[in-house]
Amino acid sequence: MRKLIAGNWKMNGSLAANQALVQALRAGVGTPACEVLVCPPAAYLAQLQQLLAGCDAIALGAQDVSEQAGGAYTGNVSAAMLAEFGVRYAIVGHSERRQYQGESDLLVARKAQQALAAGITPIVCVGETLVEREQGLTGFIVQRQLSAAIAVNAARLAEIVVAYEPVWAIGTGQTATPEQAQQVHALLRAQLAAADATAARQVRLLYGGSMNAANAQALLAQPDIDGGLIGGAALKAPDFLTIIGAAA
Ligand code: G3P
Repeated sequence: MRKLIAGNWKMNGSLAANQALVQALRAGVGTPACEVLVCPPAAYLAQLQQLLAGCDAIALGAQDVSEQAGGAYTGNVSAAMLAEFGVRYAIVGHSERRQYQGESDLLVARKAQQALAAGITPIVCVGETLVEREQGLTGFIVQRQLSAAIAVNAARLAEIVVAYEPVWAIGTGQTATPEQAQQVHALLRAQLAAADATAARQVRLLYGGSMNAANAQALLAQPDIDGGLIGGAALKAPDFLTIIGAAA
């Protein structure tokens, strides 16, 4: 399957910085072997839709989506609204939202459901904390986090993307080794296969957590690593382009 390299800009950017970054990415991306995606803050989706106009190589994604379809939910943005700006993917359940907004596994599953209903591919994030890893709970945690998304979206499982992002590797420069990442990806693949063997072969499993220009090749060479969800390195065009090049 075609790998996916997604840039999660988090709460970074400005009109001027976004224009410069996308200009550099468009100039250097060529015709990539992988799918490429950039996820700006929601405030910039209209700008990014314009900046990416005519660029088949780079798709637009969102960093979150409401579990509601519309109505009295102040501050939320629905999947249908995102789709109006050409959004094709949506990150759901990022560990920062699970931590700071208290997002539950079921809430994340419902966000994924809303995305699918609007024709948007959800990127369902799972990942353990350092304490959970040290306690030997990694497999339990990531499979628990994914189980709700599988149950709620069983009929469309083949259409989701899953991102394994060990919390202790996010923004720390402490990347999981290729072997550590592959071990968890294999667990997630097996969990998906137990639910739907055919779908499991179609679900792309992304690694996120300090993936960078130097380590991308080794991580992406692993059999169950189908791409990356990139934070810091996505904000630097040369680095992001190098990671894209490694995802052949
Ligand atoms: O969603 C991707 C992000 O959490 C990874 O961040 O900076 O470790 O690549 P970073």
